[in-house]
Amino acid sequence: MKVLVTGGLGFIGSHTVVELLEKDYDVVIIDNLSNSEVIVLDKLEKLTGKKIPFYEIDCCDYEKLEKIFKKYKFDAIIHFAGYKAVGESVAKPYMYYSNNLNSTMNLANLATEYKVPRFIFSSSATVYGDQTPPLTELMEKKETSNPYGETKAMSERILSDISKANKSFSVVLLRYFNPIGAHKSGVIGEKPSGIPNNLMPYITQTAKGIREKLYVFGDDYDTPDGTGVRDYIHVVDLAKGHVAALEYDFEGVEVFNLGTGKGTSVLEIVKAFEEVNKIKIPYVITDRRPGDISASYADANKAKKLLNWEAKLTIKDMVKDSWNFERNLND
Ligand code: UFG
Repeated sequence: MKVLVTGGLGFIGSHTVVELLEKDYDVVIIDNLSNSEVIVLDKLEKLTGKKIPFYEIDCCDYEKLEKIFKKYKFDAIIHFAGYKAVGESVAKPYMYYSNNLNSTMNLANLATEYKVPRFIFSSSATVYGDQTPPLTELMEKKETSNPYGETKAMSERILSDISKANKSFSVVLLRYFNPIGAHKSGVIGEKPSGIPNNLMPYITQTAKGIREKLYVFGDDYDTPDGTGVRDYIHVVDLAKGHVAALEYDFEGVEVFNLGTGKGTSVLEIVKAFEEVNKIKIPYVITDRRPGDISASYADANKAKKLLNWEAKLTIKDMVKDSWNFERNLND
């Protein structure tokens, strides 16, 4: 079975490529290297012992994309490629709508033209907006506070409509909660460019001395310790969720939360990191970050029941593997 992975050199994409190759899927990677490095390809090939066809293509370039669909007969597409910085999307809405929507539409259209039966889309728990957790797939989508979130909600709608019009095109919408951690080899992981927006890379960079201290965005939320609560999921568990989605036999559109079902606060993450890795993380409490919600965690039962998938790795595994990756990075 041949799978096209867009954004296959990025954080979640690269971990999914490893899981796919371990299960003997053939993988073709497309990535425009806008937020990834080509060195990740070498790392993936060394890690898996397999040669992986790679094309430096932007998914907004229909003609270049079509050449790939002419060359290979795909059984599935897993579409990770996209811009993902919430704050940047507020400052540059056109860039986000244009990139994230055009890439999804191009791929979906080519999938129907070239008869690719399965499309798996990287969506986000952000489409639930600010509702009381646990968040279930039956809850309505709500307006998100930023263009990035809207591109996820709109892409879900676009793909669903294309699937409705094409009986043989099935779509899986995977709503990720908060992926952290790294492959246990320490070879691949999350490497944001510039100042990290997300909690875990900020913590690992603080541990390494790249950042002076962590800023905890608010301690006056309605949560047990006042700091924001999220459903952190190990990226390797998340990657395995994609393989399960690929193997799920159905027609039409299905939505799945990929989370653990457990909420953890910012201060609990900091404490777990310190205890497991024996490193102090200096931090200060600062103002809330605009657009942040107090708590988000999944009801993860649907994926367990239908995909036979559940997250297995713990917060301890996540903080250990995140640090193991950062520690081995040569900056
Ligand atoms: N936080 C800090 N300090 C930091 C960074 C984050 O205190 O330097 C806090 C946030 O306030 C939040 C928690 O840590 O309470 C997690 O923040 P992240 O930025 O790591 O993650 P978010 O939950 O804000 O965002 C993630 C994804 C988005 C997605 C969103 C909703 O990064 O892509 O979940 O699903 F849209």
